[in-house]
Amino acid sequence: MFRVLALSFVSLLAAALLAEASIANDTFNLTPFKIDLSSEIPRLKELVRNTRLPAKALYPNAGPDQGIQLDFLRELQTEWTETYDWEAQQAELNQFEQYTAIIEGQTVHFVHEKSENADAIPVILLHGWPGSFHEFAPVIKPLTQSWTSATGKKVSYNVVVPSLPGFVFSSAPPTNWTVDDTARIYNTLMTEVLGYSTYAIHGTDWGSAVAYSLYSLFNTTVRAAHFVFLPFFPPSAEDIAANNITLSDAQNVTEQRFIKWSTIGNGYFAEQTNKPNDIGLALYDSPVGQLAWIGGNFKLWSDPRAGTPPSVLNNTAILTSISLYYLTESFLSSVWIYAQNPNGFRTVYEKPDTDAPMLFSQFEYNLGLWPEEYVAKVGNLVSYKAHDFGGHFAGLDNPPALIEDIREMGLYFKV
Ligand SMILES: *[C@@H]1O[C@H](CO)[C@@H](O)[C@H](O)[C@H]1NC(C)=O
Ligand SMILES: *[C@@H]1O[C@H](CO)[C@@H](O)[C@H](O)[C@H]1NC(C)=O
Ligand SMILES: *[C@@H]1O[C@H](CO)[C@@H](O)[C@H](O)[C@H]1NC(C)=O
Ligand SMILES: *[C@@H]1O[C@H](CO)[C@@H](O)[C@H](O)[C@H]1NC(C)=O
Ligand SMILES: *[C@@H]1O[C@H](CO)[C@@H](O)[C@H](O)[C@H]1NC(C)=O
Ligand SMILES: *[C@@H]1O[C@H](CO)[C@@H](O)[C@H](O)[C@H]1NC(C)=O
Repeated sequence: MFRVLALSFVSLLAAALLAEASIANDTFNLTPFKIDLSSEIPRLKELVRNTRLPAKALYPNAGPDQGIQLDFLRELQTEWTETYDWEAQQAELNQFEQYTAIIEGQTVHFVHEKSENADAIPVILLHGWPGSFHEFAPVIKPLTQSWTSATGKKVSYNVVVPSLPGFVFSSAPPTNWTVDDTARIYNTLMTEVLGYSTYAIHGTDWGSAVAYSLYSLFNTTVRAAHFVFLPFFPPSAEDIAANNITLSDAQNVTEQRFIKWSTIGNGYFAEQTNKPNDIGLALYDSPVGQLAWIGGNFKLWSDPRAGTPPSVLNNTAILTSISLYYLTESFLSSVWIYAQNPNGFRTVYEKPDTDAPMLFSQFEYNLGLWPEEYVAKVGNLVSYKAHDFGGHFAGLDNPPALIEDIREMGLYFKV
């Protein structure tokens, strides 16, 4: 009797789940996805091999502040054709459950890795430029696993990692598409396609702009937020001093990096905002060109110790990031995000209308410093942490710290 009841309960549940899945499928064309770009590799290698670089550096004294260094570019060029193994990288990314869905006419590619725990919290992780969903590869599976806090609370996640519109396997959006539009379709992804009534968010770089839109505009469904970057221009040293805030040596390291970025490091930003087609088309079919435009940033924006544990941001990771852009022909649409969001980074710090908790982690080698006093102005700040290892790509540059901080968010998550 019990067995029969249990069975019928299970079949009812299964029927309900199937019904839900088919609604999602009929409306959103939810479709399993695997990466298969292998057939493009011979052409890629040929292009990389045949790209001529100068025999020696024109100005040997020019350092990374003047752009990517020839030796580094050549080292990556050689690795790309000789030792880099796309098949292995593709297989590693295909270990994740991936799907595409069509939302408001846009094809959205995403990873959806579920925890074995029934009480797992849904979380959406949002990357930026020149990142991709690959940037979160080291943190996805650990976040699905159960972690117990010092107070005995258990936290695990159902992890969703979408590709931004116009990035890798997500389709390029209409010209006037903004980060608010992306936030809206991601809220649909979480609530209607995947059926999560509430969820947590994490954002970095442009992903932090999307995450911040979600945090401000969807206050009933977004119930906790973790940021490592904010869509607010970091304060200048003068502004910080005027607010009577004294920086620690570590904070000053970050502030100096921001000063450098805003004086001699943001040429790409102006270019991609003003003339996205120039750079986007110039490098459209040039893998080594994309490497020269992007590759240096992975080094310059990261911890100087990048590639040594706990960082996994080494040459392989850089080549995978750029291979994904090149092979999906999405470099052009990726740079357009700057042109589509000319006011994506704000200057006025204001509190949004939400009571959802916000957590912030400052990585010392990131490009901007947001002191705690500033972060508290733009959200319901419940935790502010500083890490002395890691930079702009925390998911690759210091995965253990990012995992720890996203887990901490679970302690504040309220349905
Ligand atoms: C949804 O439907 C498409 C075809 O219409 C099919 O290819 C896909 O496998 C289905 N997805 C799921 C999750 O059932
Ligand atoms: C953006 O463009 C689409 C189609 O071109 C149009 O329907 C829509 O109204 C535009 N939105 C805004 C905010 O201009
Ligand atoms: C900073 O400190 C000075 C001197 O104590 C004070 O006059 C000023 O109002 C303070 N500024 C802020 C923003 O708190
Ligand atoms: C911050 O670092 C710069 C460059 O090393 C130095 O000139 C400046 O005095 C430092 N400022 C503070 C407040 O420590
Ligand atoms: C880069 O790091 C990954 C992960 O730690 C490792 O498997 C790979 O061998 C490394 N690649 C290089 C070129 O050192
Ligand atoms: C959400 O935003 C609306 C509109 O701004 C506001 O009325 C409401 O109080 C907010 N809810 C929460 C839970 O913050």
